[in-house]
Amino acid sequence: MIPKETIDKIFESCRIEEVVGSYLPDLKKKGTNYWACCPFHNEKTPSFSVSPTKGIYKCFGCGKGGNSVNFVMEIGGLSYPEALKELALKYNIEIEEKELTPEQIDKENKRDGIYLISSYANKFFQEQLWETEEGKKIGLSYFKHRGFSNQTIKKFQLGFSPKQKDAFSKLAIKNLYQKEFLEESGLSFFNEKGCSDRFKERVIFPIHNYSGKVLGFGGRSLDPKNKAKYLNSPENPIYHKSKVLYGLYFAKSEIGKRDNCFIVEGYTDVISMHQAGVENVVSASGTALSTNQINLIGRLTKNITLLFDGDEAGVRASFKSIDLILQEGMNVKVVMFPQGEDPDSYSKKLSQEDFTNYLDENTKDFIQYKSELLNKNSQNDPAKRVKYIKDIARSISSIPDRLLRSEYCKVSSSLLDVSEQDLLREVGLFLQVKKKDMFVHSNTPQQNKINSDTEKNSIKINLLDVCEKEILRLLFNYGNRVLEFEDEKIKVSKYIIDELYNDNITFSNSFYKQILNEYKQKILEEREININHFFHHENSEIQQLSISFVSKKHEISKKWEDIHQIFTGDETKNLELTIEKAILSLKQAFIKSEIEKINKVISTDEDPSVETITKLTKLYKALVIINKLLGRNFN
Ligand code: CTP
Ligand code: MN
Repeated sequence: MIPKETIDKIFESCRIEEVVGSYLPDLKKKGTNYWACCPFHNEKTPSFSVSPTKGIYKCFGCGKGGNSVNFVMEIGGLSYPEALKELALKYNIEIEEKELTPEQIDKENKRDGIYLISSYANKFFQEQLWETEEGKKIGLSYFKHRGFSNQTIKKFQLGFSPKQKDAFSKLAIKNLYQKEFLEESGLSFFNEKGCSDRFKERVIFPIHNYSGKVLGFGGRSLDPKNKAKYLNSPENPIYHKSKVLYGLYFAKSEIGKRDNCFIVEGYTDVISMHQAGVENVVSASGTALSTNQINLIGRLTKNITLLFDGDEAGVRASFKSIDLILQEGMNVKVVMFPQGEDPDSYSKKLSQEDFTNYLDENTKDFIQYKSELLNKNSQNDPAKRVKYIKDIARSISSIPDRLLRSEYCKVSSSLLDVSEQDLLREVGLFLQVKKKDMFVHSNTPQQNKINSDTEKNSIKINLLDVCEKEILRLLFNYGNRVLEFEDEKIKVSKYIIDELYNDNITFSNSFYKQILNEYKQKILEEREININHFFHHENSEIQQLSISFVSKKHEISKKWEDIHQIFTGDETKNLELTIEKAILSLKQAFIKSEIEKINKVISTDEDPSVETITKLTKLYKALVIINKLLGRNFN
């Protein structure tokens, strides 16, 4: 583990503009901040800002934001410690790793153990394929029969697992590999009678991570009667199927060079395409394409081409993938193969040249692809037509870039034979629905739990949430400023904290409460509040929230304002008033929710206690006063 002091040192040394600038050469200074086109979504005008004073970046288009370490993690696809190490290297900071806790050691050991076993198994399966009679006769001849050359088989490290049910497990145990790791990797099963192999009597496709380490395996049965044609490694500490793309390790440099990535359905499609000279190809291996996987590709190119068999299932699967890819701000195209063909079979049917020509000539933009399906399937059926048109509108609404969206509306209106206005309106409707979703979900994870309460209750509690969040925002932005009232001068942080304390108000949202407590703690320790602490917080939700708090309004794009409904008047002109209003609003929401709670008790309790009634009366009185104050001062 990297010691805290070293992490602090790294954070202190990092200049965000330098770190980001070394990845984004077009980062330009404008005013106090730097701007560039966002590397995390597709855009033509810069909405990605870097603030040297705050040490953070923020994209007003896609909402991504964070500190130097977050940036390096995100852009390099690195883990937290990896990103720290990368930055330490850049700034010449020496890292001595601290002793790990027993649990950490345990976890690390487990991962290491499974990596070791996987690499051992990978060797074993290849030896079986090339060096045993059984392997050559059954496994190798199968691959040959499928048209794979020796070179291809070696490149993809294909292998064979023999018929003997414990061939691998027994040998591994004999060679002192640990039972625990064998079991956890999914390669072996153990019971009272002994052990058995997961992949017995199958040809093996090892699955590599981005840097070429083997994480797991796919095994294909050679018996057509076998129900499970493919068996795969189970999820384990090193293999997460939604975070891996089969073939990415072998494809990555070509993906960069060609600035495009083909996605196919299966292992054999990847391999056959390589052999046909098309190497920028990966597969999600039988699972639905995930956002994680799309972003793995997104580091190399913004262009994805989906290759699908011409059958119904393929088409439907492609619809979901298309929207996911668009959402990530990437471009998506589609190639359909003739009925009954997949990239594997078709690349073998055609010559290399004809196959690449086929890809070139049949690549269609997703709009064109969907429109053609529409025209084919629903010519004389108005209801079906409407369904398709809506479907296309939904896809267009997934595109983060507004200009690109309207461009697509233009193109598809003529393809679909609907007016551009109608299409724009439909896209707008989908956007509105998404925006609402975003507003509801953008606050905190706790909120979702709260929402499962009754509808009525959740609205009230949300009001309290909003007020609590606003108090935090003010604390973060203006905590160290001094308020000047008629008779005293007082710091914003002290003023707010005292006000809450005096009226016995605690936050209802536990996430906000945690942040407030930490804030108070910091003030106690350091008197002044240094919110940089929160920008580098180990809890990424706290980090994100604090960054969203300080994004300055005049730098906020119109879009951002619309989405987050940020209040636009200049709140600093009369900070005293702004803060008083926020406190009063919180008190009002707090009292209302207390009243609500008591009323609930009373409604179920036939004989409420005197204290309860007294408390209720007090609360009502307080509410009247607060309402008056709010009305008098601010309306
Ligand atoms: N798959 C799987 N489990 C199955 C079937 C399929 O994991 N029971 C995954 C495999 O990664 C497979 C991909 O889905 O490569 C595509 O399935 P399919 O088209 O049936 O397999 P092909 O790759 O065409 O395999 P083959 O040509 O060997 O039949
Ligand atoms: Mn196939």
